[in-house]
Amino acid sequence: MSRHREPDDQGTGRGVPDHDEQIAEAVADPSATAIVDPAAIDPDLADPEAVAEAVAPQRDIATATGETLLEVNGLTVEFGGLAALDDVTFDIKRGEILGLIGPNGAGKTTCFNAITGVYRPTRGTVTFDGAPLGKIKQHKITRRGIARTFQNVRLWGEMTALENVCVGTDARHKTSVFGGIFRTPRHYREERDAVDRGMALLEFVGIGPRAAEKASNLPYGDQRRLEIARAMATEPKLLCLDEPAAGFNPSEKTALMGLIQKIRDDGYTVLLIEHDMRLVMGVTDRIVVLEFGRKIADGSPREVRDNPAVVAAYLGVPDDESA
Ligand SMILES: Nc1ncnc2c1ncn2[C@@H]1O[C@H](COP(=O)(O)OP(=O)(O)O)[C@@H](O)[C@H]1O
Ligand SMILES: [Mg+2]
Repeated sequence: MSRHREPDDQGTGRGVPDHDEQIAEAVADPSATAIVDPAAIDPDLADPEAVAEAVAPQRDIATATGETLLEVNGLTVEFGGLAALDDVTFDIKRGEILGLIGPNGAGKTTCFNAITGVYRPTRGTVTFDGAPLGKIKQHKITRRGIARTFQNVRLWGEMTALENVCVGTDARHKTSVFGGIFRTPRHYREERDAVDRGMALLEFVGIGPRAAEKASNLPYGDQRRLEIARAMATEPKLLCLDEPAAGFNPSEKTALMGLIQKIRDDGYTVLLIEHDMRLVMGVTDRIVVLEFGRKIADGSPREVRDNPAVVAAYLGVPDDESA
């Protein structure tokens, strides 16, 4: 069932003719702490299947598993002559969750930054979806299909949860959602889609009822989820998550890992940075381990766990013994 509806088709058979207006009202209210009932806004949002359908409308992001999506080759990033990332080579297959792990300072975030255009590699190449990323700028990388979250949550605190997600959707659209959200008839279709998808995404990550709350008012864990929803809103082929469970207690971590699996099951490819090795074991398909900027292992969770160099890195054995 397609969720794409024509503008004149709004509300038909849904018993809620003005759901845009309801969201608009809630979003426009600066003191909004009201809990939204997503299912009252759109009955489809009570149906996980329909939500998943809305969240990944372009099934080409879910292309056959196994093909190479991202290729990192000999990637080196130096800061003042010191290599934060040293000749690192790995790839990501479509449809997999690849864990990028390693002790603090190993170069995980630097690797993300080089892939997403924040840093220019000193040497090496990154090939995405069959073409080199080369020297393209960050926002173009988003358009090419790579989205990320940050190690420290970055949200627009004064904006509502829904608005934050719509900005992500906006990154894909030609017209600006905030050029006149809910107001410009000419862009009605795109705006409408953005809001529908935004609501579905919030529901998908488990914070639908918080749609109208200011991002800064959300509990920390919900902010993390919102950041993921916003990244997903750009319809990425590759979703990069930088320590999404940082600051979580064990049960929150487990819940988040469940969400990440759900995201992958919905057709996304995920690159997951995680510091906690135990955590990634149950979630990832494959793991790349970095230590002091170098790749020290690459394999299935089991292979990696049993790799003496990895064990040594995590136990803090001196370099010469773990090399
Ligand atoms: N912008 C930067 N300038 C200088 N050094 C940096 C910069 N970013 C990271 N580094 C250094 O690179 C190394 C790897 O850092 P990082 O990639 O953040 O590690 P991780 O994410 O694995 O904890 C660290 O030694 C860090 O100090
Ligand atoms: Mg980091």
